[in-house]
Amino acid sequence: MNARVTGAVLLSTFFVAAVGSGSYAAGGNVAQGKVLYTNLCLRCHGVDGKGDAYMKFNPPVADLSAPAVQSKLDGALMKAIHDGRKDSAMGAWKFVLSDEEIRDVTTYVRVLGSHTNRKLP
Ligand code: HEC
Repeated sequence: MNARVTGAVLLSTFFVAAVGSGSYAAGGNVAQGKVLYTNLCLRCHGVDGKGDAYMKFNPPVADLSAPAVQSKLDGALMKAIHDGRKDSAMGAWKFVLSDEEIRDVTTYVRVLGSHTNRKLP
């Protein structure tokens, strides 16, 4: 088996293990995260996180379900949520959310990344 195949097998094993056990990255409360997301983020990022809600901006709203976002570490996503993005519509949520709430909503963002494989809670 070459290295690429081994890597893919290892990755999918990890993915199945993570989803199958019901644990999510970022370690937050997924139900609480969904409530926060629905109330605060959905109007821009959309129900599926694809950034196709009715609010349009330049630069465009990030597709949170995309590999480009999901491949980032939890810390990077939490920083983007905490501090916002300069010169964009993505505000700094540190003024609204506690660190724990930012963790919860990040956990839900991970669910958006896996929604094609499983039903949303
Ligand atoms: C007013 C519209 C708006 C709202 C509300 C909003 N976002 Fe965003 N978000 C954006 C835009 C626009 C970007 C892309 C910014 C950029 O291009 O740098 C973005 C980017 C992000 C990113 C970075 C993605 C990456 O590429 O790393 C994350 C994570 C994120 N948003 C999560 C959230 C969460 C969680 C909430 C709710 C707490 C939220 N956003 C609310 C508009 C919004």
